[in-house]
Amino acid sequence: MNTAPTTAHTSAPRPVYLDCDTGIDDSMALAYLLRSPEVELVGVGTVSGNVDAARAARNTLDLLALAGRPDVPVAVGAHHPLAGEFAGPVPHIHGENGVGGIALAPSDRRPVAEDAATLLGRLAREHAGALSVITVGPTTNIATALRRDPELPGLVRDVTTMGGAALVPGNVTAVAEANVRNDPEAAAELIAAPWDVMLVPLDVTLENQLTEADREALLGADDPLAQAVGAMLDHYFGFYTPLYGRRGCALHDPLAAAIAVGSVQPTRAPAVELVIDTTHGPGRGQTIADLRGQRLGPVDRPGVRTRVVLDTDRPLGPLLVERLLGTARAAA
Ligand code: RIB
Ligand code: CA
Repeated sequence: MNTAPTTAHTSAPRPVYLDCDTGIDDSMALAYLLRSPEVELVGVGTVSGNVDAARAARNTLDLLALAGRPDVPVAVGAHHPLAGEFAGPVPHIHGENGVGGIALAPSDRRPVAEDAATLLGRLAREHAGALSVITVGPTTNIATALRRDPELPGLVRDVTTMGGAALVPGNVTAVAEANVRNDPEAAAELIAAPWDVMLVPLDVTLENQLTEADREALLGADDPLAQAVGAMLDHYFGFYTPLYGRRGCALHDPLAAAIAVGSVQPTRAPAVELVIDTTHGPGRGQTIADLRGQRLGPVDRPGVRTRVVLDTDRPLGPLLVERLLGTARAAA
């Protein structure tokens, strides 16, 4: 398994758009993207999930200011899912303010006037063929952008989406993962669109973790963004401690970011048919991946453009700490 530090990057950074419900692990994903020379964050859209979309935008602006990147446009997106109403925030996981109750210095920036779906559509045209879309919350904004502009899939390079559970239980119901469960109709529309999608489900995100030593390293960093992440993790660890039997947390959203960046590579990610359960029964929000016939190794189904990540080449925890601390090894 590759655990070597990453080397400095030399080619031009790829443009990425992040859609998130900021959120502690969303904050880690944001920080990871900002500290990855392979990509340039050109815009952020927010959606209701861990907190409401307006609060998520506030948190994102404050984090961007802390990172010295107040120039990145942040657009407020959908408050409600495509069908139904926002189910409300999850303070027991992400704290009352979404960032573990820590007080971030307020940015003097405001969200841009356009909504997240409009921002995404505009960026896709400005960076035609080059933009990578990363979603780490419910995908309402993406579905809205697709409805507004059917040409969107042809303009986007690829989509990496944190969500779903292929072969493991869900985390909000027996079978459903939170991002998909919060807007199954939107997830179904994202999967149905003609573009390359990498689904990063609980199967892999729960296997990538941060430890108490990692948290302490971030907390002691000589860097305000890393410090803030370390501070907010205290609350997040509290939620995950009973799950893992020790202090730590899962790395849902940062794993999607790292896979989109290319610093973590999927080693098993077959292209398979994926059905999102949009019924109103107990299966609502389930991601049903047709993984039959995969026993002897990954088999891609012809014509399918959605890959489901089931394994990766390296643990994300050490890499995330390294990137946030700025200790990536210089190029030889
Ligand atoms: O199920 C995990 C996902 O739900 C993560 O994106 C987390 O931030 C929440 O949105
Ligand atoms: Ca999230």
